[in-house]
Amino acid sequence: MLIEGRQYRSIWYEAENDQVCFIDQTRLPHEFETRRLRTLADACEAIGTMRVRGAPLIGVTAAFGVYLSLREDPNSLETAIRQLRDTRPTAVNLRWALDRAVRELPAHSPVGVPSEKALKFALGLAEEDAACCEAIGRHGGKILHRLWQERCGQDRPLQVLTHCNAGALATVDWGTALSGIYKAAAAGVPLHVWVDETRPRNQGGALTCWELRQAGIDHSLIVDGAAGHVMARGLVDICITGSDRVSASGDVCNKIGTYQVALAARDNNLPFYAALPVSTIDFDWPSATEPIPIEEREAEEVSMVGGIEKSGGEVRIRQYPEETVVRNYAFDVTPARLVSGIITEQGMFKANRDSLAALARTKFSPSDP
Ligand code: MRU
Repeated sequence: MLIEGRQYRSIWYEAENDQVCFIDQTRLPHEFETRRLRTLADACEAIGTMRVRGAPLIGVTAAFGVYLSLREDPNSLETAIRQLRDTRPTAVNLRWALDRAVRELPAHSPVGVPSEKALKFALGLAEEDAACCEAIGRHGGKILHRLWQERCGQDRPLQVLTHCNAGALATVDWGTALSGIYKAAAAGVPLHVWVDETRPRNQGGALTCWELRQAGIDHSLIVDGAAGHVMARGLVDICITGSDRVSASGDVCNKIGTYQVALAARDNNLPFYAALPVSTIDFDWPSATEPIPIEEREAEEVSMVGGIEKSGGEVRIRQYPEETVVRNYAFDVTPARLVSGIITEQGMFKANRDSLAALARTKFSPSDP
């Protein structure tokens, strides 16, 4: 992603000083700050406090966490996997990345796992994620291009609504839902993006708006409750979000509030797509009727608000009394029947069991058109 004229990834490795660096997303949009991960504990803290967030990025950060742990102690693979696995429960990419680490790193060697192997693994995963997300963008961009030609002609921009942040910040690069938007914009499709604020952590207002501004894409921030309103007024052509876990039947778990977006889209005859790498599909989760772990975060994310004063100083303000009982569900599940399609690096698939089973049998090559 291009930030102030310089190419960045959300996480990267600096070989010259053996450092893992990342963009601290808790500082955005007010401050662009990069930090270092030095230890396994740093990686766990960065994921748990959401300095890094977004399903694909969590998985890649965990892989770097394994490297940092093995760099200190070549016999720490099991401990590292256990600690990283517990950082966030819903995004399946974390489990996927750690399961792959267990498969690909020789855990039972008496001298432990050489950290170079773990580094190679993490770097490979990061490259793979960037390539997958770019391919998701190619497929998503084509869908947007076609829709613009069909619905808008040359007369007006395509109106896209998105929820949370499924952009480059949520992945190593490009993003998932926003990747298609970047590709369509680059192909000359005029766009306007409605960005849901995404309470309580405001990933839409803080991160998606920041990304779209960096990319020069026209957008407006709306409160979550306004999504149905702009759809009903004919101001939206398509809704696209990312996902943290998709069931084998096409149900889409994503940031809290996504289900309501999909319901409003259906009521207004608008397509609702989820864009995600195949690593987000949990083939062990048969369907929405089976429960998955839905993260519940601390009450203060809802009852307190943070920001900066006019003078630039940081403030945190209590909105609701401590006695108010808060349930801070971080994710919800949109049933497959409300999902128009699943956009992956392999192309667009229907949100049903047969279609996703066919997807599971195909192999990704980054050069696929
Ligand atoms: O709690 P977050 O910010 O990690 O949640 C992120 C989302 O819900 C994203 O939409 C999802 O991870 C897809 S990211 C490409």
